[in-house]
Amino acid sequence: MHDKETLHTVLTQQQIASRVAALGKEIEAWRKGEPLVAICVLKGAFIFFADLVRHLKRPLTLDFMRAESYGDDNISCGEVRIRLQPSCPLKGQRVLLVEDIVDTGLSMKVLHDAIMLQEPKELAVCTLLSKHERRAVDVQVDFSGFEIADGFLVGYGLDHAERFRELPEIMELRFHDPAAAE
Ligand code: IMP
Ligand code: MG
Repeated sequence: MHDKETLHTVLTQQQIASRVAALGKEIEAWRKGEPLVAICVLKGAFIFFADLVRHLKRPLTLDFMRAESYGDDNISCGEVRIRLQPSCPLKGQRVLLVEDIVDTGLSMKVLHDAIMLQEPKELAVCTLLSKHERRAVDVQVDFSGFEIADGFLVGYGLDHAERFRELPEIMELRFHDPAAAE
């Protein structure tokens, strides 16, 4: 951590845990006891996914996907490629795609379209965080944990250049320009 950066709590462990439990109930109501394939979008969703799936019932299959965005590490530049495809066949399945954050929506659109090519019976999208105001493309979000207005968030799986994923709460990372200080 450089001294021109500071961390500020946005969501506590308790706030996250109770919202994740509520999302689990919403998802259970939607699936109506049918078999479900839950797909974690690596890397950012790994902690959220681990907590969420422990609120879901069987029959449940877990899988993983990864998208990579080119350009700036923190902002999607529009070129998003799939780096890891789910290994389970998805045709005719009820699928839940689990993301950490939907920002411009560009990553989610690519992931969503890649899954739809496999012709699932139904696909729902669950994201822990959503920055709705920053959307550049229209994307489907069925279950959303928290609406975030602004700021760059880290912790609970989210990173800045691979740092801070291990933080148990969600924090805003602020960058301070030392030249601007009095
Ligand atoms: P999108 O393609 O612009 O919707 O961005 C989605 C991806 O950008 C997320 O999966 C994150 O990896 C990253 N991202 C966007 N906003 C944040 C943030 O506030 N903190 C950490 N990562 C972010
Ligand atoms: Mg991500």
